[in-house]
Amino acid sequence: MKFAISTILASAFLLQDVSGRAIEERATATPVKNTGKRGLSYNNAAYTMPFSLSGQNSQVSWAYNWYQVAGSGFNSALEYVPMLWSNASDLTSSWSANAQAAINSGSTHLLGFNEPDLCLAGAGSSCIEMNSAVKAWKQYMEPFAGKALLGSPAVTNGGSPMGLTWLSNFMGNCTGCHIDFINIHWYSNKYAGANYFKQQVQAAHAMSGGRPVWITEFGLDSSVSYTQAELTSFLEEVIEWMDEQDYVQRYAYFMDTTGALMNSDGSGMSDLGSMYNSYPEVSSASSSASPSSSTTAVLSSSSSVSTAVPSSTVLSSSSSSSAIVASTYTSSRTTSAPTSSLTPSSASKSPAATTLLTSSSSTKSVPSEAATAAASSGISILGAYFADKDVTAAAQTAFIQNGNLVVNTYTLTSALSVSDPWYGTVKTLSILYADAANNTYIFAQAEQTGTYTISASALPLSAKTPSIAAVDGSTIDVVGIVWGAQQIKTTSVWDRIYYQQATKWGFQITTRLFGVDGFWGHAKVGIIWYRDAQGVLKSLVGRENGWVKF
Ligand SMILES: *[C@@H]1O[C@H](CO)[C@@H](O)[C@H](O)[C@H]1NC(C)=O
Ligand SMILES: *[C@@H]1O[C@H](CO)[C@@H](O)[C@H](O)[C@H]1NC(C)=O
Ligand SMILES: *[C@@H]1O[C@H](CO)[C@@H](O)[C@H](O)[C@H]1NC(C)=O
Repeated sequence: MKFAISTILASAFLLQDVSGRAIEERATATPVKNTGKRGLSYNNAAYTMPFSLSGQNSQVSWAYNWYQVAGSGFNSALEYVPMLWSNASDLTSSWSANAQAAINSGSTHLLGFNEPDLCLAGAGSSCIEMNSAVKAWKQYMEPFAGKALLGSPAVTNGGSPMGLTWLSNFMGNCTGCHIDFINIHWYSNKYAGANYFKQQVQAAHAMSGGRPVWITEFGLDSSVSYTQAELTSFLEEVIEWMDEQDYVQRYAYFMDTTGALMNSDGSGMSDLGSMYNSYPEVSSASSSASPSSSTTAVLSSSSSVSTAVPSSTVLSSSSSSSAIVASTYTSSRTTSAPTSSLTPSSASKSPAATTLLTSSSSTKSVPSEAATAAASSGISILGAYFADKDVTAAAQTAFIQNGNLVVNTYTLTSALSVSDPWYGTVKTLSILYADAANNTYIFAQAEQTGTYTISASALPLSAKTPSIAAVDGSTIDVVGIVWGAQQIKTTSVWDRIYYQQATKWGFQITTRLFGVDGFWGHAKVGIIWYRDAQGVLKSLVGRENGWVKF
């Protein structure tokens, strides 16, 4: 598809002078380089053309297409960033020549593998086993250390062992490797939204060893539908925040294609694209006068250490965009995502977007269980979660009164002395409790629904957790399951959980797993309480669509 450049050149642009007065001016829009952190993720190079033009106050300065060559029609104002997508031989065989050609044409950064931590057919992820990833890095990325800045493999926001755990293991295993910046992806729903996004970026910063952080794919997934206004407001909040964080060096919204940053017929930017291109609306005078130092490409030419890149070393690069051999590559990510389905309101975005929406997941021992059970003649709390935050200790103090369980769901945050674990969602409180005879029960309610008193002398026998024998091969004893605001007692669901434990594969916390929507219309948390082979009480917890693993 060819982009009609003549229509851009002829357009009238609305500019603002320094005092904010709007002035309409005939402008000849030509590609101009700038220093913004924003980038484009694209498959069709023509879709890079509407961005970063004169008169736009554009914040877009770079682009990548999951491949090694930019493709014909690529916007000359943008820095093209090549990626070695995986260790597949058809990619590694052309890598060295393509990466060198891109560097010769002005590329200052190279990206490592795409989501090697995610192994899911159709997700557009590369799924590379650790040793192979390390081997491929050493063979193909490492020779470019000091010639360009090298970005780590891009990991999903999947829970351990995926995501940042995978990345941290990679960095531990890749001895002597030069990783100049950290690269992550993020997807979740509108409820988890900006708050969870910032948490994930901060977590990446925390494990980065002082390296800059790039977010090369992010967006709201379709697990919960959202309006265009909600998407715009999410994006405005996170891009403003990322622009403020010095350690966030670059980012790219998923993605620059029709129905997302481009309008539906691909003839120009969508409203969202215009916002992304130039938000916030600053005057051209001030935008060109104050490039942020944190966005400057930096390269340590000796590059003998694999720690933080010294921010003062500036890569000199003529950055001319000479012709690069045109070759259109469609990443498997978008091959499986028809562009027409990328409209934000659509229920089916790319498989990646619908499967990566994960969040925190954890397997942990429940502390002080024996002490509590033994100390009480009435009800004792064995485990408690507020959304996916373990609040067991606080709940034991806050909710047991004279041996009864008393829960006021209007004051959970203050009663538990916790910060909001999942801002913007209606959260649930889930408690696993026991009577004096060690029978276990589950309490699961949404916040703001009332005050509940369960007395030790009149326990709700119907809520007693079922005892369902483990299926062959499983070494645990499931004690209780909660999905959203609902206790799950279905035998087939328990069987499925036992099966997951026996296989030890990663699995997804979804309504499909639990067989019923435990909190209709809301983002949910799934909790599985179980005893391990030694009888220690543990829990496996994940947010809706998150991936967990025993
Ligand atoms: C790539 O990595 C996988 C492990 O994920 C390995 O099985 C495969 O042999 C590697 N491919 C090459 C060409 O080395
Ligand atoms: C190497 O990776 C494995 C997981 O593949 C991990 O268990 C191990 O801790 C890592 N080693 C280091 C030194 O980080
Ligand atoms: C209940 O469990 C606790 C901790 O495992 C144990 O100390 C106690 O003896 C048990 N009580 C009964 C009645 O089984």
